[in-house]
Amino acid sequence: MSRRWWEGATLYQVYVRSWLDADGDGSGDLAGVRRRLDHLVDLGVDAVWLSPTMPSPDTDWGYDVSDYYGVHPALGTATELSGLVADAGERGLRVLLDLVPNHTSDRHPWFLDACRGRDAARRDWYVWADPAPRGGPPNNWLDATGAPAWTLDEKSGQYYLHNFLPSQPDLNWWNPEVREEFARVLRHWFDRGVAGFRIDVAHALYHDRNLRDDPPSDVGPGSRFGLAPVHSMNQPEAHQVYREWRKLAEDYDPPRLLLGETWVLDVERMAAFYGQDDELQLAFNFPFLFAPLDAGALSGVVGDTVAALGDGSCPVWAGSNHDVSRFPTRWAGGDAERARLALVLLCTLPGATVLYQGDELGLTDVPVDPGAQRDRMSRAPAGQFTRDWARTPMPWTTAPHAGFCPDTVEPWLPLGDRRGSSVAEEEADDRSVLWLTRRLAGLRRRAFGGTVGGYEALSLDGACWVYRSGPLVVAANLGDGDAVTDVPVADGVVALSSRRDGRTGPAWAPGRDLVLGPWEAVVIETKR
Ligand code: NOJ
Repeated sequence: MSRRWWEGATLYQVYVRSWLDADGDGSGDLAGVRRRLDHLVDLGVDAVWLSPTMPSPDTDWGYDVSDYYGVHPALGTATELSGLVADAGERGLRVLLDLVPNHTSDRHPWFLDACRGRDAARRDWYVWADPAPRGGPPNNWLDATGAPAWTLDEKSGQYYLHNFLPSQPDLNWWNPEVREEFARVLRHWFDRGVAGFRIDVAHALYHDRNLRDDPPSDVGPGSRFGLAPVHSMNQPEAHQVYREWRKLAEDYDPPRLLLGETWVLDVERMAAFYGQDDELQLAFNFPFLFAPLDAGALSGVVGDTVAALGDGSCPVWAGSNHDVSRFPTRWAGGDAERARLALVLLCTLPGATVLYQGDELGLTDVPVDPGAQRDRMSRAPAGQFTRDWARTPMPWTTAPHAGFCPDTVEPWLPLGDRRGSSVAEEEADDRSVLWLTRRLAGLRRRAFGGTVGGYEALSLDGACWVYRSGPLVVAANLGDGDAVTDVPVADGVVALSSRRDGRTGPAWAPGRDLVLGPWEAVVIETKR
């Protein structure tokens, strides 16, 4: 088995609170994850990333940590988590935890100490600044809600920085003690068999030491409420931290994995987080996630990604997570054939893929009315996306609460109308998205297992994109009409078609054109 076990792997994000409620309180927990590990095994997953498991007051559902060495009592105990890691290990599944190094909870003992006064031992673990000369926040930085990123601490007369909510004070990564503490946190979990970390806002850690204003920026995905966050976060010093963590991760056997939530919107900057193969082994590709489901746009970003990463690095492809609209909604507008095609792309591009729970069912977003919303960071009027829409519970069965929690308790977020898309229903239908995902995961193991697999664009003709990925050749028609394409390979067999009716699949043979239906992707397995 390759030491770089993540190459070609299928990773899977479990949003613990919405996976399975084992203790009957309406909210998912670690015992629930443990109970349904076989769903992941049957799917063909190699590793599971658990959304935050550490104690937290939950103003941002675990992304406001109050103890980096513990387990959130609402999710379970340390024993439950180690049991989960052991059960997963027995099934050949690795477990990654979510690490939140940019900020803590304002209830964390470190911050409580820092608030004791300017001379407190941990004062400098956070970012404090005097008011601007004319009063008010020290500079123009904005937080994730668009409000000033500074909150006044009345007692000391200074402001503290929070790039997210006021309850999430930013740590001061310029302080070497913070770095030392996090090295301890990493070792603590690695020593307990945790296979690695997904690193929250991995691009953010450092802020400009001189607290210079962020410059204005056009409204768009790179802009934070009209500002480019080039000083409030995104400082190059984060790279030193990842070099240090990489060494630490490589001291373990097998090496532990660092998967960064690198929310940057150009592939060059994303690629920089891999360093010279001495920083993160995997960095999420947001330029890909935010590209439209369009042949030109996607083939462009895939080609740029592969070029920016070079041969040694492993790309990561994801279409959904707990912060964005699910891809069957965002990319496919709820159209089942488009979603199936997108899944084929996600699972056949070279490198690692990260599925989000429900992707394997083709789940779309579930609208959550304002009265039922639980996310403080993205509250929205009725009919407008908030992150809650992507966080609703997994539908396991056709029971009123979908087998997620007892029918006698209210689930923490509504289930919405899940008719037809529960695990039980899709299990019984071998043309479902669930079965398509299983076939794709099996194909990935055969084709890539333990390698990155090379990428080569073979053709791009209007809506039709044909590429080679390791031993696979994929022809995808991202258009509403039929398409005919040449597949320039001398051998190969059709492994699958994305379409529910699978109609084109068997008709192709080497040397013949391939006829693709609307929104159909066909995967050909060659001997190479
Ligand atoms: C990214 C996480 O995915 C998101 O859910 C969270 O709100 C922010 N980071 C802040 O930790």
